[in-house]
Amino acid sequence: MELHRALTDAGLTTFRLSSDFRTGRTELLLERRWAPDLDFAGYGRAFAVDQVPCVEPRALGDAEARALLATAGAGPALATLEDLVRRGRHEMVVLHVHAGLGMRAALAVHSTVLGRNNGRHALRAGGFRRHEPAEPEGDVLVDALNLGRAMSYKNAAAQIPYGGCKMTVQAGPIALTDDARLGFLAWCIDAGHFMTGPDMGFTPEHADALRARFTRHVLGGSKGALGPTGVPTALGCSLAIAEAARLHWGGAGLAGRRAAVQGLGAVGLPLAKHLRDAGMRLVVADLDAGRLERARAELGAVDVVAPEEILSVECDLLSPCALGGILDEAAIDRLRCSMVYGSANNQLRAVTVEEEIRLARRLAARGILYQPDWTHNTAGVIAGAEEYAHQEDARLDRVLPHLERVCRDGTRALLEEARRTGRTPTELATERIDALLYASTRP
Ligand code: NAI
Repeated sequence: MELHRALTDAGLTTFRLSSDFRTGRTELLLERRWAPDLDFAGYGRAFAVDQVPCVEPRALGDAEARALLATAGAGPALATLEDLVRRGRHEMVVLHVHAGLGMRAALAVHSTVLGRNNGRHALRAGGFRRHEPAEPEGDVLVDALNLGRAMSYKNAAAQIPYGGCKMTVQAGPIALTDDARLGFLAWCIDAGHFMTGPDMGFTPEHADALRARFTRHVLGGSKGALGPTGVPTALGCSLAIAEAARLHWGGAGLAGRRAAVQGLGAVGLPLAKHLRDAGMRLVVADLDAGRLERARAELGAVDVVAPEEILSVECDLLSPCALGGILDEAAIDRLRCSMVYGSANNQLRAVTVEEEIRLARRLAARGILYQPDWTHNTAGVIAGAEEYAHQEDARLDRVLPHLERVCRDGTRALLEEARRTGRTPTELATERIDALLYASTRP
């Protein structure tokens, strides 16, 4: 039995699991915060974030909540989630279910340490991503948790004062005019105290609609001061790739070499342009024929391979710019490249830092240069933080030096240290962030 179904069957709307990573102790709270037919189109006008109308509110504390889930047959789903939360050292998972809208949102809060006392409504930052309603809840929660954890590391690496989180939304495609669903999504965002932008399954136009009608905590819209975040993200990745190539290959760096780009979306296409402009030959793949056609038109001469072939195609640089979780042991053994750098979040298939390090060592043992995606796909959050702080007065000339410092200079420093110490960039970068997230945490 999935958690959201147990909630709905009991007439409840909200599940919150909090965890203390120092003790492994977890606390569960279940609530009924609205009636199944509540119209969230009125969010922000008819009611504020902490005034959701509810005729018969309910709250079940830890023991009662566990008993309810066990009776409903959702005990195993809860146990699996608690195990993941403890192993990944996550702070909190919140599920909001709106049965009437057929929508459920999962906010995975990994760490708030760096966002505490930052003087803003948003304590943490991370995107919102859509999954189809039919996908198993457990798989979607793993995606949310892994992305939330990566956001803690990414925000710390990007040197912005926010903790890390991610929201997954299970719903069919949401029309830009669908105020009931957009209002519910906006409420979930505001209630989670995070600033966010559209990830896969949502578009910059969704961000525009949410900002115009519901919440200023959504950034990265096409009408925002800095525009969609895909373009700066591609620039940040290209700066890191150029620096890594100089150190790894020496000489002409990228020129004359072959790059394989997986995914030609908001980041993949502009990144492919940067690589082409740096003199690389391109081989690309995308599931979407329309995206391939556009890429052919905008990139000129490119080789195209089937999506299932791109990860093992012979190339110098593999640039994952689609889904995460693509590199497990078997996939690493099949790689025929000498560098892996791309925008995709969570390229390694891991649910803990320890698993990431094991996979990073396997890449290094094969002579493949890799550093965590969150060290260089940071431009989205850097631009987002600028837009959040300055709204319509956000300025690209403040973002660019920040990007150069983090993506280009940070890559150089990390790879030089890796070379000096004989350790993987993943271990070094992770240790640095762990010291910020965990060592300084007071009880
Ligand atoms: P997008 O949705 O615009 O593009 C993704 C593209 O990948 C689509 O064209 C899709 O058809 C393709 N794709 C999906 N599965 C594929 C497969 N198996 N093989 C080949 N192509 C496949 O997404 P976007 O925004 O470009 O993001 C790409 C990655 O970068 C994601 O992992 C995202 O989380 C990450 N990212 C994006 C940022 C942004 O600012 N947009 C910032 C930081 C990370």
